[in-house]
Amino acid sequence: MLNATAILRDIANRRPNHSLSHDLYCDAGVYRADLEQIWYKEWLFAVPSAQLAKAGSYATMQVGTYPVVVVRGADGLIRAFHNVCRHRGQKLCAKAEGAAPRIVCPYHQWTFDLDGKLLYARDMQEAFDPAAHGLKKVHCADLGGVVYICLAQVPPPIADLARTAMAYLAPSRLKDAKVAFSSTIVEKGNWKLVMENNRECYHCAGSHPSLCRTFSDNPKIGAMDGPHSASPEILDHWQRCETAGLPSRFVHAPDFQWRLARVPLLNNAESYTMTTKAAVARRMGEMPFNDAGSLLMYHYPNTWNHFLADHAITFRVLPISPTETEVTTTWLVHKDAVEGVDYDLKTLTEVWLATNDEDRRVVEQNQLGILSPAYEPGPYSTIHEEGVIQFIDWYCGTLSGRLAPEPALAAE
Ligand code: FES
Ligand SMILES: [Fe+2]
Repeated sequence: MLNATAILRDIANRRPNHSLSHDLYCDAGVYRADLEQIWYKEWLFAVPSAQLAKAGSYATMQVGTYPVVVVRGADGLIRAFHNVCRHRGQKLCAKAEGAAPRIVCPYHQWTFDLDGKLLYARDMQEAFDPAAHGLKKVHCADLGGVVYICLAQVPPPIADLARTAMAYLAPSRLKDAKVAFSSTIVEKGNWKLVMENNRECYHCAGSHPSLCRTFSDNPKIGAMDGPHSASPEILDHWQRCETAGLPSRFVHAPDFQWRLARVPLLNNAESYTMTTKAAVARRMGEMPFNDAGSLLMYHYPNTWNHFLADHAITFRVLPISPTETEVTTTWLVHKDAVEGVDYDLKTLTEVWLATNDEDRRVVEQNQLGILSPAYEPGPYSTIHEEGVIQFIDWYCGTLSGRLAPEPALAAE
């Protein structure tokens, strides 16, 4: 199991623009460092706010060893808490999601309000102070319909992302959306392989026959690599969409941790469907036309999203072990869209259900190859895998920056 010094050496020795070493994908010490230095410190996508439809709606998630519950309060605000009872530590909410007027511990029925306050603890002694035993808070931010949490004591700044996401997501009006379907799968691969796979479409032609009907695998159209490479087609799309009130231009964090861009689909396709036509008759929010393409939003380490005219899809990645990763996909439609009338669930979900399964397969085979002693890091294509290079550079820079000893200590 690698320690911090060995991880730093491994990162320092890596060849630029090459995939990582076996250990950086597979080692238990690296996995622990990933959790401690990235997953417990960064903002993480939790749920679309539409999943928490009413007061008392909650959703749970497991981030490494931290169980977390995200809940909508009676005041409408969404908050996050450690999903751990303040009595003797029972995990409070066991289900993936649900709704309840209060959070009641299943062990001895201590009862917490939706804002985390301890309301009731049966037969405790007089000296017991309920006010000192409310649920522990987790930082939580609703960025215009996508809810993020952060486990750090002091979270990194999120204002720039929040401002940008709110402006870009406003026309989709996600608060007026509902969850049409959700799927959770486990991919037997390291979380970085899941993210790498998402950050390129070099594999799309060979893996995704249904997605390739509507999504271009050209990195200059898919905005996979950056704002510098926008093609005339994408510039025209941005112009048309922005004239209609849809923020569309490529925007990104200075270190590329997050980025948003509205990209056209192939041949004026309207949606990710087998027919290329819209899957939902009722458009999202104020979307002005069907062929607005897909607003792509990424945030490392754990989410990519597609916001289309007729629906939206959020993706949440959570690590389970060095070689297992959970991926949750949620389809959102206008809250007034009626299943069987305005949309058919199979038509809405079949392309990305197939794509997710195809991606699961390539990630799992990728993991098996990397587990072989014969594996050695290989070169990324700078034409197709610029997004992967950005992700891996962000990962290595972030991890090594946090593992590196303080200069003062190093001098001792
Ligand atoms: S552990 Fe929750 S009430 Fe006892
Ligand atoms: Fe894929």
